[in-house]
This record gives sequence, C-alpha cells and structure tokens, in this order.
Amino acid sequence: MSQIKTANKETIKKAADLIRSGEIVVLPTETVYGLGANALDGQAVAKIFAAKNRPSFNPLITHVSSIEQAETLVDMSVDAKAVAREFWPGPLTLILPRKEEAGVSDLVSAGLETLAVRMPAHPVARELIEEAGVPIAAPSANSSGEPSATTPRHVKDSLGERAPFILAAGSCDVGLESTVLDMSGDVPVVLRPGCVTAEDLKPLLGDVAYDLGKDKGEDVKSPGQLLKHYAPSIPVRLRAVEVKEGEALLAFGSLKFMGVEGGGAAKDLPDHALRNLSEASDLHEAAANLFTMLRDLDVPENTGIAVMDIPDTGVGIAINDRLSRAAQGR
Ligand code: TXA
Ligand code: MG
Repeated sequence: MSQIKTANKETIKKAADLIRSGEIVVLPTETVYGLGANALDGQAVAKIFAAKNRPSFNPLITHVSSIEQAETLVDMSVDAKAVAREFWPGPLTLILPRKEEAGVSDLVSAGLETLAVRMPAHPVARELIEEAGVPIAAPSANSSGEPSATTPRHVKDSLGERAPFILAAGSCDVGLESTVLDMSGDVPVVLRPGCVTAEDLKPLLGDVAYDLGKDKGEDVKSPGQLLKHYAPSIPVRLRAVEVKEGEALLAFGSLKFMGVEGGGAAKDLPDHALRNLSEASDLHEAAANLFTMLRDLDVPENTGIAVMDIPDTGVGIAINDRLSRAAQGR
C-alpha cells in the first residue's frame, strides 16, 4: 500500500531509515516532488528506474544538503563554487565532472563522466538528506513521459503502488523542475531552462549559452532532452487565439478577447474546461500552476487543450519549453 505521510521529525526519520536500507521514498522539493534513493546503492537506484519506467540511458540528479557534500561527489571549479554559493540551496542543477572515488552508482549518471548535483531549498528535502547521511538520487516523482508531480496527490495518481512511501509537504512553490546548467565544458550551457534564468547567471559567469536539444536528433547533451515529456493524454495546441469545439482553455492573463469557435466567450467555459495560469500575467505564478492545471484539464470531458501565448522571457522560456514538449504528445 502506498502511504502519504505528512512530513515531520518522525516521518523524516522513517524516510531516512528507508533510504539507508535501500528503499525508494518520495520527497518534497521546492521545484517538484522527487522519487529518491541512496545514490551510492546501485540496487536502490535501479528501483527508481523500474518505478518510473525510465529508460536507463537517462541520468538522475543527485541531491545534497551542503556545498561540502557536493564537493565530495564532483570537481567544482571556481566558477561552479561561485554559482553554488549564490544559487544554492535552490532550483539550479549543476553538471560537473564526477569523482569516481565518491562511489555514486554508475546508473545515476547513466555511464556519463559527469554528474548532476543540486542542493534543494526545501527544508524537508535537506533534513532528509542530512538524516539519511547519504546523497539522494531523485528524478521527478511521475511515470516517465507524464508531467512532473507538484502535489502528493499527483504523485499517487501517477505512480500508485510504485511509490510506497510519500513524504508530503503540500504543493511545490516553484512548480517547474530545476534549471540544468552544464558546467563541465568551456562555456556554461543551460540544458533545461527553469526558474534560474541565463540572465540570472550572466553576472557571475559572463556568457551562458542555451542548448535545449530541439531539432538535434541524437546529438544532445542531456539525454532527457531526447524524450517526449510532460504530455497530457489529450492534444495540446499552443498560441491559441480562440477555443475550438470540445477543447479546454489554459489561459494566461486577461480573457477579454478570447472567444470560442462558433460564438461565446472563453470566460463562460465550464470549470472542467478552463484554467488561468495567472490572471495577473505573472510568470512565476504561471510556472507554479502549470503542471497542476495541465492535469486538471486532462479529463475525458475535454478533447484537447488550447494554450494562450506566453511571453518567451525570463521564466516564460522554461514554461514554453515544457509546453512545446507537451504539444509533441506522448
Ligand atoms: O527540480 C528538479 O530538478 C527535480 C527535483 C526532484 O530535484 N528533478 C528532476 O529530475 O527534474 P529529472 O530526472 O526528472 O530530470 C533530470 C534531468 C534530465 O533531463 C536528465 O537527462 C538531466 O537532468 N541530467 C541528469 N544528469 C545529467 C548529466 N550528467 N548530463 C546531462 N544531463 C543530465
Ligand atoms: Mg522528470
């Protein structure tokens, strides 16, 4: 039976015991819920891949509770340390050369010579890592291909019995997965856009490139970019200027000029067919609502999801990245 346990001293300790004994545990982070296991234990990590039905070539992020712990796992350049000091704990993952002697399972990095590391801002996540005394490998807590889960309920909907222990702490503040920044090459490259933007990183790093893996076929840096991701079970249509018959609307900002094909106003759509990411056009609010609202609209009453245009600046870049993947379908 899958158990949802409110995070407190006692349940965090229980979760830490499970991690140390080679089991998997769902943990809250400020971005999305994670499905964690002891990164040093190959058999435990294998359980993550099985539970998510995740292809083994797609590496995992290792979560740490301090910069010192990260330094035991990867080679941190002067720049990497500066970035970690500025943005950790927080929604930023760094790809760095892995230290072989640290003993992180090869499964975690899918055989690559680099390792993704992140210190989460969520206090429960950090307490769990400290209590467990080992780094925790954790992908998002959803079945491979589905939108990431930002509430305990969505974890349960997506993974069911495959998530036996869920440490619950409400909905995630950020709502989008961390920014993935590859610092293993000459120029830092954003492989997955997130709440920490290239603009935020530039004052520390100078030039920061984007490589979101679109139109690149096999030649991608981040294996996750190859995969279809975040897709609801019904078609997603972007930059919609009106709502078609049977479609639901995922709105952003004012609905004043949004109409329904054949007559009618979008604001009069029934509840199951209408969500607004942010009435105030706030991109951070929209990011926090994105996955929950996609799931809300992914119901049999709707034939598809029309999404209004979202500005491609700041966090909007990350939102549009997830939406364009959602629009590619499952
Ligand atoms: O916010 C987050 O990052 C959440 C929470 C739980 O921390 N985790 C998460 O993990 O989103 P996941 O596994 O769903 O996404 C990790 C991404 C994948 O696209 C993967 O390919 C990439 O990071 N990645 C991991 N290790 C890598 C490496 N060594 N080189 C390049 N990309 C890597
Ligand atoms: Mg994921």
